[in-house]
Amino acid sequence: MNTIDELRSRALNEIDASGSLPDLDALRVRYLGKKGEITAQLKTLGQMEPEQRKAFGQAVNAARDAINQSIGARRKQLEAAALEQKLLSEKVDVTLPGRGEQPAGLHPVTMAMERAIGIFTKLGFDVATGPEVEDDHYNFESLNFPPHHPARAMHDTFYFGDGRLLRTHTSPVQIRVMEKGAPPFRIIAPGKVFRSDSDQTHTPMFHQIEGLLVGRNVSMADLKGVLHTFVNAFFERSLAMRFRPSYFPFTEPSAEVDIGWEKGDGSEPGWLEILGCGMVHPNVLRGCGVDSEEFTGYAFGMGVERMAMLRYGVTDLRQFFENDLEFLRQFH
Ligand code: DAH
Repeated sequence: MNTIDELRSRALNEIDASGSLPDLDALRVRYLGKKGEITAQLKTLGQMEPEQRKAFGQAVNAARDAINQSIGARRKQLEAAALEQKLLSEKVDVTLPGRGEQPAGLHPVTMAMERAIGIFTKLGFDVATGPEVEDDHYNFESLNFPPHHPARAMHDTFYFGDGRLLRTHTSPVQIRVMEKGAPPFRIIAPGKVFRSDSDQTHTPMFHQIEGLLVGRNVSMADLKGVLHTFVNAFFERSLAMRFRPSYFPFTEPSAEVDIGWEKGDGSEPGWLEILGCGMVHPNVLRGCGVDSEEFTGYAFGMGVERMAMLRYGVTDLRQFFENDLEFLRQFH
């Protein structure tokens, strides 16, 4: 009996003192395992007198239960301590700045877009937007494209087959703005446009900025003045400009604007087309409920990639869409 008491209190002391889960498990094996000390005591029962066996058996069982319980309790403590330790050592300070982050930059097309928007905004234009999925009415009909007009074919339109299409230009925004409000109007409409066309100088998606100004006594001279101011601000130098007669169904008269451009290789400066423009066709105004006797207006539309290529000296349009980091990093 003394042996059992001694064994029991030794075991409980050791369990209390054990400092880790592996140590604790070693104690479990030492006392309760197949070859453990408690197990050895149980095996001695067989050689005992029945009287003695009963008391001794109860004492060994009680010792075994106490040791078992104590191990369970100690395990809980050690597990909690281990978890605490793990949480402490893996603590992340979420307020610290990240490591190794790379400063990013805007895409050159975005830069050109924001630059143009900034200039027109200073000139008093508001920014308007419209949907990229349009229908025949907004993309063509209301812009004075008659049903079988050849200008439609020039637009290489993506059709959905249910009457809807991807807008081929930002001009439909003119209509949406005029339908909703009353003159005067002074807006630009930047955005994506889509044409089924892909080669060195064309991509199926590109960006345009549309301009529309409608009011009393608006003339072609106002148009020229605004475009001149814009172009010189955009390229930060005084550039020669010419208005070449052209045709668009929604403007009359219509013009294309060229700028005098030096390639920088010593060759003679040449003319580069940068945008289309004109006086808003009376049919377009009337279709939007604007009195074309009282109001006149001008409109223009330019390709943003084209402007970005000229300003940043990019020679291949497709580079804008390849997402080559070597290329993009040059604009940071
Ligand atoms: N929408 C024309 C195009 O994409 C560009 C354009 C030309 C817009 C003349 C205009 C304009 O507003 O007056 O080809």
